[in-house]
Amino acid sequence: MADASLPLQAALRDVAGEMDRMFDSLLAVPGDPRQGLYRAMRHAAIGGGKRLRPLLVFATSRLFAVDRSRAARVAAALEAIHVYSLVHDDLPAMDDDDMRRGKPTVHKAFDEATAILAGDCLHALAFEILADEATHPDPFVRIELVGALAHAAGPSGMAGGQMMDLEAEKASFDLNTVTRLQAMKTGALISCAVECGAILGKVPVEGRTGLRGYARDVGLAFQIADDILDAEGDEALAGKKLRKDDAQGKETFLTLLGLDRARAQARLLVEQAVEHLHSYGPEADLLRDIARFTLDRDR
Ligand code: IPE
Ligand code: IPE
Ligand code: MG
Ligand code: MG
Ligand code: MG
Repeated sequence: MADASLPLQAALRDVAGEMDRMFDSLLAVPGDPRQGLYRAMRHAAIGGGKRLRPLLVFATSRLFAVDRSRAARVAAALEAIHVYSLVHDDLPAMDDDDMRRGKPTVHKAFDEATAILAGDCLHALAFEILADEATHPDPFVRIELVGALAHAAGPSGMAGGQMMDLEAEKASFDLNTVTRLQAMKTGALISCAVECGAILGKVPVEGRTGLRGYARDVGLAFQIADDILDAEGDEALAGKKLRKDDAQGKETFLTLLGLDRARAQARLLVEQAVEHLHSYGPEADLLRDIARFTLDRDR
């Protein structure tokens, strides 16, 4: 591994530990019949995952000297939505998967009803975290965070993209439609992580153009990498079942472009993402490293 990736690896480890500690304290198991629900949420949220979205919140917040404890709360909110999306994505009605993050999926470890409710509760938890005064003393900042995350999670973002993704198993979409689908399904939450860093830093909207361009390109490159890993990754490293897109006959960047062009396109997107950060100095190096990592990863 290149030297330049060492700070990134250390940052990923730090953020993983911090997210585990936060979810551990947010999800203390009560001594009543909701125990299974909390255990299921803990199973999904603690111990695993790259924690890419939390890292993006930290890396962007760092540009604007945001208090780390505030960034950590926003990072946990983003990750809670992401984890809920994975719990539901794995359900039999959706991708019907048995393994996630190297562990049995929530509906396998518990049951389907518990997995649905655990997803619902992680979704609600995200907004509860953002609405709390501890996230930011300024209510205008809190409401902007809530609005941004709601938009990114809903029908114009992740959930809408998931619906289009289901349709992509039946219809033959063109490249524009697949790009839009991926920008919603995966890109929206990734973009939101960067946007939330700027919101915490009280950056005016007109000052966010470079960051938005960066996030859009990183989000697309990240999903192309997910599709490439699905085709040729190692299941033991990925911690989830692979070679599913082809089996489901799903239209992806790979079916439309082929492996070589998809990889070239992702590389171009990473270069473009880095270029969007030209007005920032070394304080944005972690964001630059994250952009390269979205493609150079094995899980
Ligand atoms: C997987 O996301 C689902 C997609 C949106 C492509 P990640 O690859 O970030 O999954 P974890 O969080 O590391 O498990
Ligand atoms: C899921 O995409 C994206 C989400 C919004 C959860 P995939 O179905 O491709 O994700 P994996 O491959 O199961 O992680
Ligand atoms: Mg899916
Ligand atoms: Mg899936
Ligand atoms: Mg996938």
